Amino acid sequence: MSKMEAYKRIALVTGGNKGIGLEICRQLALNGTNVILTARDEKRGKEAVEKLTKDYGLTNVIFYQLDVTDLSSIESSVGFVKSQYGKLDILVNNAGIVGHEFSKPIAEKINNGGDSSYILEVQAKLQAADLKFLAAMTIEPYEKAKECIDINYYGTKAMCEAFIPLLQLSESPRIVNVSSYFGKLEFIPGENIRNEIGNISTITEVRLEELLGTFLEDFKAGRLKESGWPDMSSAYTVSKVAVCAYTRILAKKYPKIIASSVNPGYVKTDINLNTGVISTEEGAKGPVMLALLPDGSSSGQFYDETELCSFE
Ligand SMILES: NC(=O)c1ccc[n+]([C@@H]2O[C@H](COP(=O)([O-])OP(=O)(O)OC[C@H]3O[C@@H](n4cnc5c(N)ncnc54)[C@H](OP(=O)(O)O)[C@@H]3O)[C@@H](O)[C@H]2O)c1
Repeated sequence: MSKMEAYKRIALVTGGNKGIGLEICRQLALNGTNVILTARDEKRGKEAVEKLTKDYGLTNVIFYQLDVTDLSSIESSVGFVKSQYGKLDILVNNAGIVGHEFSKPIAEKINNGGDSSYILEVQAKLQAADLKFLAAMTIEPYEKAKECIDINYYGTKAMCEAFIPLLQLSESPRIVNVSSYFGKLEFIPGENIRNEIGNISTITEVRLEELLGTFLEDFKAGRLKESGWPDMSSAYTVSKVAVCAYTRILAKKYPKIIASSVNPGYVKTDINLNTGVISTEEGAKGPVMLALLPDGSSSGQFYDETELCSFE
C-alpha cells in the first residue's frame, strides 16, 4: 500500500498553489487527509506540493492541474479522482478572484512596501468594510467583473456539479465554498433582490443565474445603483452572495452532503495586495473546520471564520 492509500479521507482543493488554498491543503494533510492540491498553473501547483513535502514532510499531498472555468479540465480531474480513489470525501472550492483592480498609483504605493502608514490606513478601512474608500482605490472594468462571476460563482457550481456523483459515494461528504465577508445578503442594497435571494423556499439555481445575468447587463449599462446592486466591489460581492445562496440550495437538494460557505476573514494574501490582518494559518481554520465537520452537522450554513453566522 502506498503512503497515499494509508490515509482515509480524500480532499480536493481548488486554487491550492498559494494563499488560503495552500494553507487549507497543509492543514488538511496534517490532519491525515489525502489531499489533491489543484491549481490552474501546473508549475505553480507542482512547486506548492514540493514546498509542502520539503518544509513539512507531508507525503499525502499530490498535484492535479485544474482550471475551474475549463470544463474539460474539470472533467479530467473527475476522471482522475474516480480512477485513483473511486470517491471524493471533501471538496473545497477556494479558487477566486476580485472583480476590481487597484488603481495603478495605489498598487505601487502598497506593493513597494515603502509607505507603511498608508498600508495601515488601507487595512483599517478595508477591515471596517469602508466601501467608499475601496471604490476610490479601485477600478472595475466589465471584463473583470464578468471573469469574477465566472470564476467565483460558475466555477464553484461547475465543480460541485461535476464532483457530486463522487461525493455521494463517500460516507461523510463535505463541500466547503469559500465566500467572503461581502457574501452576506446585507451587502445587496436592493430589497427585492435581497428578498428573492434570501428566500430559501423559492430561490432556484435558474432564478439565481437569471439575477446574475441581470446584474451583468446592469453593470454594462451603468445602472447598478438604481437597479439595487452594490456599486463598489460589485461583482465580487454579488458573486460571493451567489456562492452562499447556491450553498443553501445544494444543502436542500443533497441532504446527504454537508455543504457550507465561509468567510475566511481578512487574510494577508495576494488578492488584497497582502494588506490583510490575519495570517493564512488563521484564515484556513474556518474552511478546514467545515471540511472536517462531524456527521449530523447542520448543512447550508454560512460561517464567519469558525463561527456560525447569519446569511441574511
Ligand atoms: N484574502 C482574504 O482576505 C479573503 C477574504 C475573503 C474571501 N477570500 C477568498 O478566499 C479565496 C482564496 O483567496 P486568497 O486570499 O488565498 O487569494 P490568492 O492568494 O489570490 O489565491 C487565489 C487562488 O485562486 C486561484 N484561481 C483563480 N482563478 C482560478 C481558476 N480559474 N481556476 C483555478 N484556480 C484559480 C489562484 O490561482 P493563480 O495563482 O493561478 O492565480 C490562486 O491559487 C478566494 O475565493 C477569495 O475570494 C479571501
